[in-house]
Formats: sequence, C-alpha cells, structure tokens
Amino acid sequence: MADYEYDVLVIGAGPGGYVAAIRAAQLGLKVACAESRETLGGTCLNVGCIPSKAMLHASEYFDAASNGTMEHMGIEVSPKLNMEKLHGQRIEAVDGLTKGIEFLFKKNKVDWKKGHAKFVDAHTVEVGGEKVTAKEVVIATGSSVTPLPNVEVDNANHVVVDSTGALELPKVPDHMVVIGGGVIGLELGSVWRRLGAKVTCVEFLDEILPGMDGDIRKESRKIFKKQGIEFKLSTKVTGVSVKGNTATITLEPAKGGDEETMTADCVLVSIGRKPNTDGLGLDAIGLATNDRGQIEVDGEFRTSVDGVRAIGDVVPGPMLAHKAEDEGIAVAEWIAGDTGIVNHDVIPSVVYTWPEIAGVGLTEEQAIEKMGGDKKAIKTSKFPMMANSRAKTNHEPDGLVKVIAEAESDRVLGVWAIASVAGTMIAEAALAMEFGATSEDIAYTCHAHPTHAEAMKEAAMGVQGKPIHI
Ligand code: FAD
Ligand code: NAI
Repeated sequence: MADYEYDVLVIGAGPGGYVAAIRAAQLGLKVACAESRETLGGTCLNVGCIPSKAMLHASEYFDAASNGTMEHMGIEVSPKLNMEKLHGQRIEAVDGLTKGIEFLFKKNKVDWKKGHAKFVDAHTVEVGGEKVTAKEVVIATGSSVTPLPNVEVDNANHVVVDSTGALELPKVPDHMVVIGGGVIGLELGSVWRRLGAKVTCVEFLDEILPGMDGDIRKESRKIFKKQGIEFKLSTKVTGVSVKGNTATITLEPAKGGDEETMTADCVLVSIGRKPNTDGLGLDAIGLATNDRGQIEVDGEFRTSVDGVRAIGDVVPGPMLAHKAEDEGIAVAEWIAGDTGIVNHDVIPSVVYTWPEIAGVGLTEEQAIEKMGGDKKAIKTSKFPMMANSRAKTNHEPDGLVKVIAEAESDRVLGVWAIASVAGTMIAEAALAMEFGATSEDIAYTCHAHPTHAEAMKEAAMGVQGKPIHI
C-alpha cells in the first residue's frame, strides 16, 4: 500500500469539514484540514449562521424597545443605536467561536494546512505551496453567493451587497431592497427593518420561503407584512445600476410584462448559494459536478473517484450547517470503518426571524404527493400560538404549530411551526420522527406547563380531533 502522510485530509474547515476532521482524529486517524480563510469555522462561523444571529438577537432587543412591546409590559425606554457596539458584539461572537475551533484542532491534533487546496491527484493535494498526501480526501468546500446577472455586488461600497456585506453595513439604510424572499433575505431584511430601514422584498415566485409548508409560507408573509416589510411577489429583478449612493432597481413581472423601477440606498442580493468547486482541480482527478454544480455522493459520501469523499453544501441536500455537521461525523465514521448514519428525511430547518419559522419532514403538499395525490391519506392539525398560555402571556400571539400525520398509521410525516422559539421546539418533532412516533405519541407525552412546547402537544392532539384549548 502507498505511504501517505495523513489518513485523512479534509478540504474546508466549515461545520462539515471541521467536524469531520475532529471526529476522524477522535477515532484515532491522523488528520489534516486545509482552509484558505484566515480563521476556521467556514461560512457558518465567519459570515453566516453566527454573525447573522448576533445581528438578529441584538436587533430583536432594539425592536422590542422601540416598537412598544417593552412599554406594554411597563418598561419605558428610549433606545439609541450604537452601531459600533452592535457590530462589536457580532465580531466578538465570531472571534470567540472561530478561535474555539482552532483550540479544538490543537486539542485533537488536527493539523491546519493554511491556504487554497487543489488536487494534484486523488491522494495528493497542493495547499499553500506544500504537497499533502492522504489515504482519503474529504471535500467540504461549502458554498458561496449565487450572482444575479446585471447586478454587481460591491460589499465595500455598501450599496449593492450580498449577505456578507449586509452583516457589516456601517449605517441603517433608509430603503433596503431585498432580492429574494428566502432565508437570508428575510433574516437580514428583518435585522435592518428592526433597526429602522424601510424594507421591500422582491420575490420571483408567488410566495416567500420556497420549500416550506404552504400554510406556513402564507402565514409568515402576513406576519412580516404586519411588521412593515413590503413584498413584491411574482416579480423578477432584471438589473441594478448605481450612481453615488443610490441604486436603481429594474423590475419586471416574473412572467414578463411592463418594466418598473425603484430606488434604494441598499440592495441585498440573496437568491441562493452555489457549491464551491472552482479552482479545486477536480479535472486533475476526473471528478465531474452535476448540472447544479454539486458533487454527487453515495450513502457513504464516496464520490465517483476512489479515496475522495464529499459532504456539506458542496453535495446535494439542504445547505444547512447542522446537515453539514452530521455528514462530517458520518463520513469520518465510514472512513474509520464504522457506520455513519444521517437520516436526510429528518433535517430540521429554521428561519431565525421574529417569530421563528421551523419545520421538519414533509410539507402538506409533499405528503399528499407521496400518498399519490390522495388528500384523505393524511391528517393535519393546526394549533394557534394565540391559544398557548405562555405565548399569550409573553405577548407573542403570532404563529401556529402544524402536525401532518399519515391517516392510516398516524405516523408523523412533518411538523411545522411559527413561534418565538420555534427553532428550539422543532427539536422535539425531529426526535419524535427519528423514533417513528405517531401523533398520539406526542399527544400523550407530558409537556411542561406553561411552555410554548405545549402547542406541539395540542397540535398533535388535534390530529385525533381532541385538542383541549381550542
Ligand atoms: P462552509 O461553511 O461554506 O465552509 C467551507 C470552507 O471551505 C470555507 O471556509 C472555505 O473558505 C473553505 N474552502 C473552500 N474551498 C477551499 C479550497 N479549495 N481550499 C481551502 N479551503 C477552501 N445554516 C444553518 O444551518 N443555520 C443558520 O442559521 C444559517 N445561517 C446562515 C446565514 C448566512 C448569512 C449564510 C450565508 C449561511 C447560513 N447558513 C445557515 C448556511 C451555513 O452557513 C452552511 O450550510 C454551512 O456553513 C455549510 O457548511 P460547509 O462545511 O459545507 O461549508
Ligand atoms: P434561498 O434559496 O433560501 O432563497 C432565495 C430566494 O430568491 C428564493 O425564494 C427564490 O425564489 C428567489 N429568487 C431567485 N432568483 C430571483 C430573482 N432573480 N429575483 C427575485 N427572487 C429570486 O437562498 P438564500 O436566502 O440566498 O439562502 C441561501 C442558503 O443559505 C439557503 O439555502 C439556506 O439553506 C442557507 N441559509 C440558512 C439559514 C438558516 O438556516 N436559518 C439562514 C441563511 C441562509
């Protein structure tokens, strides 16, 4: 057998790559991880999940202080925004967590190879001028922003920005136009709306949040509209021109028709993300990508090239940090000779707006399709947060929990929620589904009172037509 310097070389230190590297080292393998960024943690820790949540959390407090919520509870304040401190706490969160990964690498003896990695052959990768050899190479290069034709992003200018630029705006825009009513558009649009910007969201489809349950999409939009976000649905952006600090956005109905224009001092381009494979030298190993630019893998994350596996945003599936992490653990386990399991049918997704929007499993539309179009083959139940004592007491009346179950077996097929803590609540549904629970199992599980989670129990009780509080 050839002699390799490492058992495993992971390319990319995002939540997929760094977790794979650590788990492989825990399993006794000699591991290196190549990362071209100055800091570890990938998109998620540097410019994604973490900084966006830092801005969402802080702006949530500002909003509560300025929109009358706190006053309603007898707390009178006059909030004043300190942008430097607001960004400071974001940077602090990112610094702490990225350094934490560096510590974990040292603790687990994972060697960080700094620089851009490029395949020389299937077992040799050039990183920062050094040739590193490994028995197994894991591609975990993640994703980056999908560009929009005729729209040039310039984060340094703060006028036309992508998600990274939108996290770092030095001042609150007067008018922010968000292109794309997906997760990034709604999360970052919410941040700047709460801090005082007028926000207009332009979405190509006839509803926001594609991929989520139909009722949840419609209800979410109503809530965001009530909060002040304006929506232009079934509309596409055909171009953006910038003069000084003003952007002129050209719009057109999605199906074609008369053009209109709109001006804004900030435009956020958030129309999706694409896998990172450019400059990786895939040609050198004869590895092709599919028509979406993704690397296809089998159940053990093996690509079509022997000794090369791939995980995370660069492979098919939802582009989510926890999906990448779980694949990171699983790929390391396969490489070490164990069995690594990721149940791709039970991956929760959460939009961290106010209220949060979360779901796991099938949407109602997908469940009906799975049952061959037979609507009677499924049962659904919705429980409004308004009827949940804790949400009501906390002045959080918006939202609902929806449970979708198979009519015959009562097995839960999907759970969706809009609630202040929906992201935390959805973990229960994921665990229940992982164990093959029926709606009755959830309904007969004792839930602490008063908690938002009781709405999950009540929605499950509703599947049998017997909720108590509505
Ligand atoms: P990445 O995190 O993208 O990491 C890949 C790493 O590989 C990068 O650091 C890159 O520099 C490096 N790399 C790429 N090519 C090379 C090369 N050739 N050589 C060396 N290094 C290379 N997901 C959630 O689950 N929850 C959230 O709340 C959430 N919020 C988000 C907010 C924003 C604004 C964005 C943009 C994304 C968010 N995501 C969220 C998505 C999440 O960040 C990704 O799904 C996740 O980071 C994917 O992990 P990954 O390890 O596959 O890739
Ligand atoms: P997205 O795929 O969620 O949404 C993009 C939206 O843009 C879609 O609704 C799409 O119909 C629309 N669109 C596409 N082209 C358009 C056009 N020309 N004009 C108008 N609208 C157009 O992508 P987004 O928001 O950029 O996020 C990228 C990825 O990052 C997501 O896949 C998500 O998984 C991940 N992410 C996850 C978060 C979370 O888990 N909370 C937070 C932020 C990002």
